[in-house]
Amino acid sequence: MKVLGIETSCDETGVALYDSEIGLLGEALYSQVDLHLEYGGVVPELASRDHVRRVLPLIKEVLAQAHCTSDMVDGIAYTAGPGLIGALMVGASVAKSLAFAWQVPSLGIHHMEGHLLAPMLEDEPPTFPFVALLVSGGHTQLVSVLGIGQYQLLGESVDDAAGEAFDKAAKMLNLDYPGGPAIASMALKGTPGRFIFPRPMVDRPGLDFSFSGLKTYTRNCIAEYCQDDLLDEQLNADIALAFETAVVETLVIKCKRALEQTGYDRLVIAGGVSANQRLRAGLYEMLEKKSGKVLFYARPEYCTDNGAMIAFAGCQRLLSGQREGLEIKCRPRWPLEELAPIGQ
Ligand code: KG4
Ligand code: ZN
Repeated sequence: MKVLGIETSCDETGVALYDSEIGLLGEALYSQVDLHLEYGGVVPELASRDHVRRVLPLIKEVLAQAHCTSDMVDGIAYTAGPGLIGALMVGASVAKSLAFAWQVPSLGIHHMEGHLLAPMLEDEPPTFPFVALLVSGGHTQLVSVLGIGQYQLLGESVDDAAGEAFDKAAKMLNLDYPGGPAIASMALKGTPGRFIFPRPMVDRPGLDFSFSGLKTYTRNCIAEYCQDDLLDEQLNADIALAFETAVVETLVIKCKRALEQTGYDRLVIAGGVSANQRLRAGLYEMLEKKSGKVLFYARPEYCTDNGAMIAFAGCQRLLSGQREGLEIKCRPRWPLEELAPIGQ
């Protein structure tokens, strides 16, 4: 089965064609980063309008890349939520219109399920059950995964998501959006140990996170050490390193706890922040002490938003027989646990 995937939940227009027998046949991505750069974050209305401009040319590009014509597409998957409502509506409207025109089924996919399953696009995919750490710009969640659609939330952020915290801290340090990669590269020049930021909520039981305090800590640190309102390069790097280390160590501690609690051997990390090298290194170090436990993640371009993860998730669900009508339904807020298991 060949499934066209369309991702438009935020500031990336992603399109891909996935074949259940062969794998990915084509993919294309347009990032709106430059469009939103001067605002320091995503402007929803600009995002929606840009998706309108990009999505059809990208679909044509992907079909051409895959040497496929529209009559070879068996189904269409689109991101139905969570995300920005205007942006979601663009992908949903295009998906439903094409499904009607091409007479094929279409299905709305949960963006975080897309992320969660993205490591399965790699050569050595994880098998169920596993613990998933979902870390993106909008979510930080630990999930027990028994199968596709069988998700149990173990813990989540009570305030900012990890990616959001990276973005906000980067803004304070006058670094560009998105803040995660900017902080990570700045931190490489940082002096280890000059600043030690707290590891929020690790001293109490449970698997929830809180990252908003780290933002305040960053602001106070800048105010205390910054001379004449000018952040010098080294101070910037030292704060970036302290911030990144605190987020990473907090995530590692909670992942360790989640593995102990569930007894699972496999840990999957997904979402934009899972591209972070310090996080991967920290998790490897933790898992090394727990022999037999294995870490899975996707290549960097499948950690951040992309069409391939939506095409893949859509293909699994369409193959299992799931279908929906032509009405356009998006869910800006959508708990992962409400998803239907496949095959039931
Ligand atoms: O999954 P994603 O592309 O979009 C959402 O679903 O939100 O994640 C974007 C987030 C942004 O907050 C960005 O700063 C963060 O992922 N991010 C990173 C890295 N690359 C992207 N955070 C830390 N380190 C990175 N290398
Ligand atoms: Zn995402």
